[in-house]
Amino acid sequence: MVKLSEIRSANTSLKSSRSGLTAVVVGGTNGIGRGFLSALAAQSDSPKIYIVGRNPTTLSTIVSELQSLNRTGTYIPVPVADLTLLADVEKATAQIVEKEPKLDLLFMSQGYLSLGGRDESVEGLDKLTTIRHYGRTLFILNLLPLLNAAPSPRVVSVLGGGQEGPIFTDDLEFKDPKNYSLPKIAGASGTYVTLTLEQLQKRNPKISFVHAFPGLVKTNLINPEHWGPVARFLINWVLLPTIGRFFFNSPEESGERILYAASSPQFGAQGTGDDLAVGSNGVRGSGAYTLNEKPEAVNNDKALKPLREEKSDVLIWEHTLEILERVLGRKF
Ligand SMILES: NC(=O)c1ccc[n+]([C@@H]2O[C@H](COP(=O)([O-])OP(=O)(O)OC[C@H]3O[C@@H](n4cnc5c(N)ncnc54)[C@H](OP(=O)(O)O)[C@@H]3O)[C@@H](O)[C@H]2O)c1
Repeated sequence: MVKLSEIRSANTSLKSSRSGLTAVVVGGTNGIGRGFLSALAAQSDSPKIYIVGRNPTTLSTIVSELQSLNRTGTYIPVPVADLTLLADVEKATAQIVEKEPKLDLLFMSQGYLSLGGRDESVEGLDKLTTIRHYGRTLFILNLLPLLNAAPSPRVVSVLGGGQEGPIFTDDLEFKDPKNYSLPKIAGASGTYVTLTLEQLQKRNPKISFVHAFPGLVKTNLINPEHWGPVARFLINWVLLPTIGRFFFNSPEESGERILYAASSPQFGAQGTGDDLAVGSNGVRGSGAYTLNEKPEAVNNDKALKPLREEKSDVLIWEHTLEILERVLGRKF
């Protein structure tokens, strides 16, 4: 168990141990990503941080706040319209690639919750699966040359590390309504992310990949505008003031914990030390890790081992590339 005091002390030491870090933060305009962004800016010396977000006013407010928090930093807004669209991920990454030769850290927490069924975008993809998986994979693929050019690069994806569930090998795009429910999609998308990060690690051993589960965090995610008055009343007046007080973390504390996940040497790339954590595949120092909310390395062998044995990891990888090629019309 990592104590919060240890996390804070490790984060504070980053200022002296690592200077001039370049990071891309996606999802940093709210919730856990916002907490992470503040922690990263506060605990870094001369960072350069690209902040990808869909609201230009929010982006400029955040840039001003970060400048007051740490004047040694450079904060660059990257406006996008909608990260449920692969075309917009392409536009965001193109803006970064044209300016930057190397990238030390790619952080992603973009997402939302939906109680409804499959919601298809103009690109013909489920929007939720795109923002959680296809789009995040595209961010990584497009930024790989920059990541591979950095001395010890890391990718952190915040979703459901260790919470992976079954997939539907005959319905990988969740077109069958019986495969589409909040828990089924949460489990399957967690599996897509973990197994895809493992595939990316195999092809890019210099990079370390972290799939983090944040636990329950009090953010807009559990209180979205579109959930309607009854759900919002129950959340705000029943759940949060009662049991919610004991079970939900603040976005600020979650951000500090994820900064630890993004910087601790124990979650480093393969072969980078004697003290590496056990990877998502059960191998110490594998370079791809699934972390719980503490954050500690966890394994979900129950869900993932049979999937690896039946080569569903390769199936998901090939499916993901096929989707990207189909929508974007180029080879990966
Ligand atoms: N909170 C929890 O208890 C919890 C638990 C388990 C897993 N998670 C996962 O952790 C991640 C972060 O959650 P959170 O609680 O921080 O959520 P949040 O507070 O709602 O923040 C979500 C972020 O994603 C961005 N976003 C959402 N839809 C977008 C779109 N269509 N285009 C571009 N950006 C979009 C939001 O931008 P705006 O600022 O513009 O809205 C915001 O920056 C999610 O993937 C979530 O599933 C959260």
